[in-house]
Amino acid sequence: MTLAIPHVRPVSGGLPGPIPPVVGARLTVPLVDGRRVPYANLDHAASAPCLAAVRDAVDELLPWYASVHRGAGLASQVSTKVYERAREVVRRFVGARRTDAVVFTRNTTDALNLLARALPRTGGTGTSVVRFDTDHHAALLPWRGPLVRHISSVGSLDRALQDCPTGPRLVVVTGASNVTGELWPVADVAAIARHHGARIVLDAAQLAPHRPVDVRALDVDYVVLSGHKLYAPFGAGALVGRADWLRAADPYLAGGGATSLVADRDSRLAVSWSTGPERHEAGTPNVVGAHALAVACETLGRHWDAIIAHERALLTRLRAGLAGVPGLRELSLLGGDRVGVVSFAVDGQDPGLLAAALSAEHGIGVRDGAFCAHIATRRLLASAGATGTRALRASLGLGSTAEHVDRLVGALRSLVTHGPAADYEQVDGRWTPAPDPRPLPPLLAAL
Ligand code: ALA
Repeated sequence: MTLAIPHVRPVSGGLPGPIPPVVGARLTVPLVDGRRVPYANLDHAASAPCLAAVRDAVDELLPWYASVHRGAGLASQVSTKVYERAREVVRRFVGARRTDAVVFTRNTTDALNLLARALPRTGGTGTSVVRFDTDHHAALLPWRGPLVRHISSVGSLDRALQDCPTGPRLVVVTGASNVTGELWPVADVAAIARHHGARIVLDAAQLAPHRPVDVRALDVDYVVLSGHKLYAPFGAGALVGRADWLRAADPYLAGGGATSLVADRDSRLAVSWSTGPERHEAGTPNVVGAHALAVACETLGRHWDAIIAHERALLTRLRAGLAGVPGLRELSLLGGDRVGVVSFAVDGQDPGLLAAALSAEHGIGVRDGAFCAHIATRRLLASAGATGTRALRASLGLGSTAEHVDRLVGALRSLVTHGPAADYEQVDGRWTPAPDPRPLPPLLAAL
């Protein structure tokens, strides 16, 4: 089997070519008035659609799908090679070191929980963790205990690290905000962390689908990402980084695949745990997810110029359009550059009702709420002068078009000015048309 691993190009500034297509680009959805319209998916930040190249690669793999690391049959050996190749593709995608471990996880949350469990507890003190309280919950919640410090801005990092006891330290930094898409100054955070001998983990969940990530250039120790945000929705994410803490930690899950030897000695189990990435991958590995993630990485890596140009143009169009919607307040944490994510509130409007009407009357998908980042969303709403604790988020990606953006802006203007055309009621805390005549697709017919 030939295992060609393409080189991941940096952004060159050359002429952008076409963007890679996604599955579902021609999906149409029913509206409450009986019409069908093309679906405007403006919710890429939650979960991105599947790349067509990923779908095709999964189709190609499925006939060969078999057990990984545990079968003598040729299909098992092909599946094992595909899985191990995927590690190398992900390693290159994030510019990781040859010695870094690449551990497949379920998603970013899983990867950060794994790292939190692997922090050294040496010298009786354990590892100090400094993290930003505006992070989304995946990066905020895995770290618990007296050695965790919360800070609100990069300006407080130096002081927080000075106050840490002697011993290992870890700084958690997010590449792009889950709420605003704004880019964090990761290299600056890393430089401060290094000065205090701390390691850095980069949460690239929202960054990696939109910009190249290079852990060596950024000087970070770990990076985590999710396949479902990276156009590879097959249940795999990754933790990539320094192997030593991971090798020394207890296995994340105890079970088959994480061991090199299990013996029965005097009625007790004697277990030799693997020392490679499989130490933290007990159970049958998700070869389909890993392959999908790798193919997404390869595909994005071949198209960065076009992807960035596409998203920049749409983001400019979106922000200009939103600025003209009466009473709309855009949320901003840092200012500066951002990926294609915009969150906002509209004076006097319930974000949940607006989101429901955008869907039911205009065929537009956005997210409303606090975006798994309750502290950040509340703080940003307050600083934008908005009331309430919930907002709307429109997020762009490879499935987005100028027509989607224009439709959203036009629909918001109409809803804010005239109100929804249909009636709505709250069911289990979510606004829904009452009645809702929209037929569900045949795939739900049997339910
Ligand atoms: N982190 C995902 C979101 O922001 C779930 O929607």
